[in-house]
Amino acid sequence: MKHFFQKGKDPSRPTLLLLHGTGGNESDLLPVAGRVDDQASVLSVRGNVLENGMPRFFRRLAEGVFDEEDLIFRTKELKDFLDDSAEKYQFKRNNVIAIGYSNGANIAASLLFHYQNALKGAILHHPMVPRKGIDLPNLSGKSVFIAAGTNDPICSPLESAELQSLLQNANADVELHWENRGHQLTIDEVEAAAQWYKQKF
Ligand code: MLT
Repeated sequence: MKHFFQKGKDPSRPTLLLLHGTGGNESDLLPVAGRVDDQASVLSVRGNVLENGMPRFFRRLAEGVFDEEDLIFRTKELKDFLDDSAEKYQFKRNNVIAIGYSNGANIAASLLFHYQNALKGAILHHPMVPRKGIDLPNLSGKSVFIAAGTNDPICSPLESAELQSLLQNANADVELHWENRGHQLTIDEVEAAAQWYKQKF
């Protein structure tokens, strides 16, 4: 996968996995990572799928309607990429925290839904429920921060709350933070995520 890796100043800090939104790239979330932990290593990945020229992490059939088969395939592809990258760049595989926005948050949530040890934690900006009706792995010891919008036209508040409860029922520790600026990734939610991260890691 096309990506960017930057070794952090402090090797005891987590590695931040950055996952952009539809139409973005591996540069988009670098300022966000800097606000969350400027000592951490960063692995920023570009989605392998193109939708009308816009990079994404998995295919969709329509707005909010995911191609489930492709989602499963791409989730495994990203997990395998993380396994290989940990060896190549010598970071601790069990200390990866994802930061995702929108489509990137959805594939991060899908990693949590499908694999027990893909991530140690995740900051999900405006995620959806990636798949319905499946049993999640035991996510005890995993910490998740969700930033959602009370008026997000893409991820409804109900779906944000459903994602929180699905993750909590799988024993993850989840904080849900509300904003009211639609689907936007706001500076306030980045600051709230940074405060949460400082308490947890
Ligand atoms: C998705 O397709 O992952 C969501 O609808 C968010 C988006 O990328 O617009």
